[in-house]
Amino acid sequence: MTNRMRRPLVAGNWKMHTTYEEAIQLAQGIAKGCIGLADVEVALIPPFPWIVALAEVLHDSAIVVGAQTCSMYERGAYTGEVAAFMLAPFCRYVIVGHSERRSLFGETDEVVAAKLARILAHDMTPILCVGERLEEREAGETLGVIERQLQAIAASVDPSQAERLVVAYEPVWAIGTGRPATASDAQHVARFIREWVAERYGERAGQGVRILYGGSVTAENASAFFLERDIDGALVGGASLDAAQFCGIVEAAQAAAQAKKEV
Ligand code: PGA
Repeated sequence: MTNRMRRPLVAGNWKMHTTYEEAIQLAQGIAKGCIGLADVEVALIPPFPWIVALAEVLHDSAIVVGAQTCSMYERGAYTGEVAAFMLAPFCRYVIVGHSERRSLFGETDEVVAAKLARILAHDMTPILCVGERLEEREAGETLGVIERQLQAIAASVDPSQAERLVVAYEPVWAIGTGRPATASDAQHVARFIREWVAERYGERAGQGVRILYGGSVTAENASAFFLERDIDGALVGGASLDAAQFCGIVEAAQAAAQAKKEV
């Protein structure tokens, strides 16, 4: 495959953390710390109630806002759900299929596929999370699991949309454990994902899709992932709650983008 430049993305998934004040402060700190790192797209993904306020706080910065999930339904009598169209005025990204949603809230591949369709229909970009559990990895089933989870794309994404997808490879055993994958293992899976997209949607889509690594990424270990050919950024949990750590990861992405340009 020829190598086309993809803009790296570093997205901070705040999960169910931060008070209102903490959220505003963190966003302001990150906005300040990321000034000048223009090669990297930065997305902050706070809990639902802070989305509107963050979109306002970040309005004059280059940082965009995302959501951690959305409803699989378009609208209607679905108490407690948040619809994609409600997020669209404020969010560029929506995470879908995060392992915590899959394991704790019963999000199946079918639900993931339905959410993907909703997100795309409202012109936001899904960050589709895929990744194997430890026992699946130990049984040598990693690529099989990833391939099964990617079927959600085949079910919901048409060829004109495939190029703007973001897929995050997040091995479940690496999330929140302080035990990241090795960069070369992550690259191996990222390559597999890119080839899968290219096979189904064509070379252009394969080259356009951005593939992130997620799972215990820190400012110290980020650079090794970003220097890999098929890894275009990171989905960051714990380290996104500290402005200095998170900006360190964005800096590493900026440096890797420069290095890749020179190749
Ligand atoms: P972590 O979480 O960086 O805390 O491992 C990553 C994620 O869940 O997206």
